[in-house]
Amino acid sequence: MELNLNTVLNHKHQELFQSTAPELCVRGGKNAGKTYSIADKLLLQPRLQPGKKLKAVVVRKTLPRIKASVLEIMEKRAEAQKIEFKLNKSDYVAQVMGLKIVFLSMENKADHEKARSMTDVDFIWMNEATEMRALDYDMLRMIIRGGESSFSQIITDFNPIGKTSWLYKRFFENRNGSNGVHKIHYTVFDNPWARPEEIDILKSYEHINKNLYDINFLGLWGELEGVIYDWDIVDVETMPESLDETFYGLDFGYSVDPAALIRIYRKADEFWVEEVVYKRELTNQALAQMMRDKGVNESADIYADSAEPKSIEELHREGFNVKPCEKGPDSVKAGIDYLQSLKIHIIDGSENISTEQRSYARKQDKDGNYLPVPIDAFNHAMDAIRYGIYTHCKKKLGGFGVM
Ligand SMILES: Nc1ncnc2c1ncn2[C@@H]1O[C@H](COP(=O)(O)OP(=O)(O)OP(=O)(O)O)[C@@H](O)[C@H]1O
Ligand SMILES: [Mg+2]
Repeated sequence: MELNLNTVLNHKHQELFQSTAPELCVRGGKNAGKTYSIADKLLLQPRLQPGKKLKAVVVRKTLPRIKASVLEIMEKRAEAQKIEFKLNKSDYVAQVMGLKIVFLSMENKADHEKARSMTDVDFIWMNEATEMRALDYDMLRMIIRGGESSFSQIITDFNPIGKTSWLYKRFFENRNGSNGVHKIHYTVFDNPWARPEEIDILKSYEHINKNLYDINFLGLWGELEGVIYDWDIVDVETMPESLDETFYGLDFGYSVDPAALIRIYRKADEFWVEEVVYKRELTNQALAQMMRDKGVNESADIYADSAEPKSIEELHREGFNVKPCEKGPDSVKAGIDYLQSLKIHIIDGSENISTEQRSYARKQDKDGNYLPVPIDAFNHAMDAIRYGIYTHCKKKLGGFGVM
């Protein structure tokens, strides 16, 4: 069957596809289609420039994040464009027709040295560029040279979090600093695949947290304020070898909300959380199958949303040890207070936990004061973690920390 690229590519992103500026800066709200279109733009190049040897370097801060985001997305977009994506997993280099794609983390000196030794680079893409530093950008910009492409480009894409970011200072505060940089701004309205329910969620922030509304819906520079958790992201290698126990938290979802299953490791009063499932449109049977595939032990404690007894029962019948979480009149606030008193780390690569954590914030009243209650969004992984830790530790183990 003939491939019609018009149905695959985002027609509202013409400017992004057509830009040949040496530096392209794509800022925007959530769900604006930025990342998909940049992946598409790079993957289109071997088709547009046949017979040439092209090279792209795709960068995120760490390897687990590469695997959980850009790598998966590029594989998916190559499939949508009906081209073969041949990945060599030993060095994270992919070949797509005439385009070689090098996936590179940007964490330490060794990463910088690896980048500096690269030759014939045509394109660089820094995804979620707010995670990286101006220093990384400057070094990467220098390695674009010697390629065969008709144009070369360094592309950044990000949500405009925080005016303290180097991106704000470099490209937005100082007008002269961004000479020659092509800046594009998109919102969810530029994504024809965004569903009305998803748009409504982003829009609903207007009256509950203005900063999140600016950043996530309008894609304007804003400060993250009123954020509830401040967990750090750690490499799985840094976890202690012996742990006290492993259990799970589960939040159900289906059409709009994803089902979120989080694995929780405990050693004394310290916790590590890891994403196992975060997916929409899973029936409970499909969820159970996924849990089996991901090695969830049938005897492990799983604490799930007590508002869904039918789903709990169905998973029980599938053989899992699922039980209702603790809920009461004040349990959301009590659970949050409890979690705030503990030391919790996110295992790197748990993309949806980090994304939710960044936006899970307190509501504001009409005068902008923060209320003790959280917003009702970005709370699937957040709730799953709260169900798990609060119910398990507070109720079963009698609690840790300051209560
Ligand atoms: N060309 C496309 N074809 C099909 N679906 C698309 C396309 N572009 C975007 N989407 C859909 O929209 C979703 C959001 O797109 P994307 O992840 O690119 O947005 P983003 O602007 O990078 O968001 P964020 O700021 O959260 O990173 C995708 O997960 C996908 O479901
Ligand atoms: Mg993105």
